[in-house]
Amino acid sequence: MEVALFDRIARLYDYEVKDFVRDIPFYVEYAKECGGDVLELGCGTGRVLIPIAKEGIKITGLDASERMLAIARKKVESENTLRKNVTLVHGDMKSFKLKEEFSLIYIAFRSFQCLLTKEDQVTCLACVLEHLAKGGYLIVDLFAPRHDLLAQSKVTLDLGTFYDEERGLHITRRSEVQYDLAKQTLHEDRVYEWKDGSGKACRDVWSYEIAYLFRYESELLLEKCGFRVDNVYGDFDKSPYDYYSGEQIFVARKFQHGRINK
Ligand SMILES: C[S@@+](CC[C@H](N)C(=O)[O-])C[C@H]1O[C@@H](n2cnc3c(N)ncnc32)[C@H](O)[C@@H]1O
Repeated sequence: MEVALFDRIARLYDYEVKDFVRDIPFYVEYAKECGGDVLELGCGTGRVLIPIAKEGIKITGLDASERMLAIARKKVESENTLRKNVTLVHGDMKSFKLKEEFSLIYIAFRSFQCLLTKEDQVTCLACVLEHLAKGGYLIVDLFAPRHDLLAQSKVTLDLGTFYDEERGLHITRRSEVQYDLAKQTLHEDRVYEWKDGSGKACRDVWSYEIAYLFRYESELLLEKCGFRVDNVYGDFDKSPYDYYSGEQIFVARKFQHGRINK
């Protein structure tokens, strides 16, 4: 996925995702359990990173979009605890080099799926491995691809209306999704429609592509890259993965020379 898209949507990102909060307690719990520094790759506007930092945990957020980071930075600067605990880094999750090691590295809310090729996914995981402390955890959250949707040539979803406070506009959203079954990618056109002050109909379309991965290929990818998958959850309440859950949450650890590297 082009990072330029996130620069473009940054201003509206928090409105878009305001109802998706159910993953936050899950990551906060792991961050507390790991008892060391935490790294989020693709941290965006800090949706998950900020609640972790509020617990007094040191956390670094890395993102390739300057505009998403600028929003996170503004939130961080508004509170002492956050200023003390958060480091934000502009970088690419495929090629980052930080001076620290982390006890938990997580990639939330499908950010890993922005890496469209197997090569990019492998390079990212190699970077993760390098930055993970002994016994450290990696958590990756992907959506679970559904065969019935993949089989349709085009899926249209009505995403309802939201209020853009800054511009005082009610905006309706629609998602038009097409799958490329050979490349294992999803192409989405997100269509936004509203009426301006004079009642004129306006429209904007944000298009992007992300990869989709199946359960066992993801496990094999992680294993090939030096991790052992401890758990595959189907939701953030830690229920086991099942086909209809919508989520695939991989909890993995660094695995080298036939043992967990503690
Ligand atoms: C779906 S958003 C998720 C943001 C945040 N983690 C959350 O849960 O709300 C994906 C984020 O990944 C970032 N991203 C995409 N490709 C990236 C890359 N190669 N390196 C670093 N960040 C990337 C985007 O800029 C965006 O902020």
